[in-house]
Amino acid sequence: MVANKRVLLKSRPKGWVTESNFEIAEAPIPKPKEGEALVRNHWLSLDPYMRGRMNDTKSYAAKAELGEVMVGGTVGEVLESKDKSLKKGDIVVGSLGWQHYGVASAKAFRVVDAKAVSAQAYLGVVGMPGVTAWVGLLTIGEPKRGETVAVSAASGAVGSVVGQIAKIKGARAVGIAGGEAKCRYVVDELKFDACVDYKSPSFVKDLEAATPKGVDVYFENVGGPVLEAISGRFNAFARMPLCGLISEYNATQPMGFRNLRSILTNRVKVQGFIVSDRMELWPPALKELAEWVASGKIKYRESIVQGLENAPKAFIGLLKGENFGKQLVKLV
Ligand SMILES: NC(=O)c1ccc[n+]([C@@H]2O[C@H](COP(=O)([O-])OP(=O)(O)OC[C@H]3O[C@@H](n4cnc5c(N)ncnc54)[C@H](OP(=O)(O)O)[C@@H]3O)[C@@H](O)[C@H]2O)c1
Repeated sequence: MVANKRVLLKSRPKGWVTESNFEIAEAPIPKPKEGEALVRNHWLSLDPYMRGRMNDTKSYAAKAELGEVMVGGTVGEVLESKDKSLKKGDIVVGSLGWQHYGVASAKAFRVVDAKAVSAQAYLGVVGMPGVTAWVGLLTIGEPKRGETVAVSAASGAVGSVVGQIAKIKGARAVGIAGGEAKCRYVVDELKFDACVDYKSPSFVKDLEAATPKGVDVYFENVGGPVLEAISGRFNAFARMPLCGLISEYNATQPMGFRNLRSILTNRVKVQGFIVSDRMELWPPALKELAEWVASGKIKYRESIVQGLENAPKAFIGLLKGENFGKQLVKLV
């Protein structure tokens, strides 16, 4: 009998996540009831937000429960449907978590065209991370032609799209990324105007050189020392969509920000946002992203690991910057 391989949350991390926080277990394949569908997952998305779900703290979304399957976005094939909106063989995006098979209400799935772009792209550039870039940059950052847009984690799933949309809108795009190889990719392949390596000892000077006219929009993904450095570059009336703070996701205490004065004196608008609060914007964002990908205006890159059992290690790697592009787990 084929079993359903699953990754469960075994314990909550204190500080850095370790592989021992997860447990690989098998269970019978679930059966769909009326209105539900059974899906065989082909791809699992690994995303930084999952680190927050491992904590037992109040947040914008419910925590993952101990002993339960880890939460996560998935793309897979419908094996059996008890709802007329889905049929066997449909390729669907859902949130079935870190497991091979899952059952959910048919309403929780979105059928996608895996011929237009690859199935796994619906977890990245034409999925949640792409929409995050679109929503944060265009509704909060509001870049104007000729302005300078800086973005951290620039080679990653969200950051890579932010800079490319900034270019489409006629702005100067400046990436911040860890290491020479990522920075080269951001400039040579993604066509940002510049990219600065925040791990280099000359980071602050390099950032100054890359932003000669200051920064009008800073799309924040990381926090910590990168944010401190950027805060010295803000122009008057700059905007800062606050998307993520990955440098502190494994910290046991919140990290401080010492340069509030620059927010005041430059009258900077800072706005945190969560992409799932803006569901009404997903259809227009996905449509535009798909057009930009099809026309080659937006390029993307993936880091793929094979096999569900390797998901914990790959997730820890993502939090350390070992991924290079959208982190995915191939399950078939
Ligand atoms: N608000 C929302 O609705 C929403 C939705 C999706 C994602 N997000 C946030 O967006 C950010 C990017 O997510 P993503 O999915 O696109 O991930 P990603 O950029 O593909 O991968 C994470 C990257 O973060 C960087 N990083 C890790 N530790 C760092 C540190 N200490 N300092 C600086 N950079 C560090 C690494 O790149 P380097 O090698 O360049 O350091 C790593 O590759 C995350 O903060 C995430 O939580 C928010």
